[in-house]
Amino acid sequence: MLTSCTTEKAAAPSAHLPAELFDGLGARQATISPKFLYDALGSKLFEAICELPEYYPTRTEAGIFERHGHDIAHACGIGSTLIDLGAGNCAKAASLFPLLRPAQYVAVDISTEFVSEALARLRLRFPHIDMRALGLDFSSGLALPDDVRAQQRLFFYPGSSLGNFTPLDARAFLTRLRKGCGLDGALLIGIDLAKDKASLDAAYDDALGVTAAFNLNVLRHVNRLLGSDFDVRQWSHVGFYNEAAGRVEMHLEAKRAQRVRWPGGGRHFAAGERIHTENSYKYRQADAIGLLEQSGFEATHVWTDARCPFAVIHAQAIA
Ligand code: AVJ
Repeated sequence: MLTSCTTEKAAAPSAHLPAELFDGLGARQATISPKFLYDALGSKLFEAICELPEYYPTRTEAGIFERHGHDIAHACGIGSTLIDLGAGNCAKAASLFPLLRPAQYVAVDISTEFVSEALARLRLRFPHIDMRALGLDFSSGLALPDDVRAQQRLFFYPGSSLGNFTPLDARAFLTRLRKGCGLDGALLIGIDLAKDKASLDAAYDDALGVTAAFNLNVLRHVNRLLGSDFDVRQWSHVGFYNEAAGRVEMHLEAKRAQRVRWPGGGRHFAAGERIHTENSYKYRQADAIGLLEQSGFEATHVWTDARCPFAVIHAQAIA
């Protein structure tokens, strides 16, 4: 049998096709939620982004973990139930294991396969920590199974992923975390802070085009999920800091007029028309702390980097 070299298979029709994808693509201003950036390849492309000289957040945050690890562990306490939201390759949490010594580690990620593989490797390195992987889209709800310990829950939300939410949605999300962790719970969160436009523009539109590939790959993922026929070559990556809105935006821009089809529908895109694929809000430190307070958390410690504005915050649940 002859097989083509590219494997862009039609979607296996699923009973619960992501309705939000259809809604987003049909909207006057087309959108695709950034969570669809993370199929297996997308997760790997994001790992590659983290290695880029332009993409400072991962490196800056890792530096803060390294420099202030002991303080962080002191604030968090040992023996916690460490719940890693968007764990990906689990590297950030693993770097804190020796100091944090969690009783249980729960790696949650929308990319089930990717996180399961990462966890399998991690189990070999830390056999004494009880671990489990959870493939789940926690942006819409956080139903944790019964075998996740209820005591001393520490939600770990690094990398400034909170920035994908609008501030209003971020508050709703943090409030859900607050409800999910109980009064003895806490949050260890990494939040990127507003900085000069040139640095932000470069971080989200790098010279090698890795971020472009990451963004464009969402169209292949959508093609598999919906059975649509997006032609990746007809789109280009746009990523920039929208200073007035306080956020970085990623879009995909149609290189020329085209029609995209999917089962039961489709849509015309004019040349230059964009699909909005991601927001990445950049906070001022005081606003980040205010947001936590409005969500039932009290910031007890803030660690920053003197050269590159980024905050790691430990926030305790309050009544
Ligand atoms: C994983 C959401 C934190 O917003 O910086 C990286 C994703 N997008 N480059 C970010 C991302 C483009 C990243 N987060």
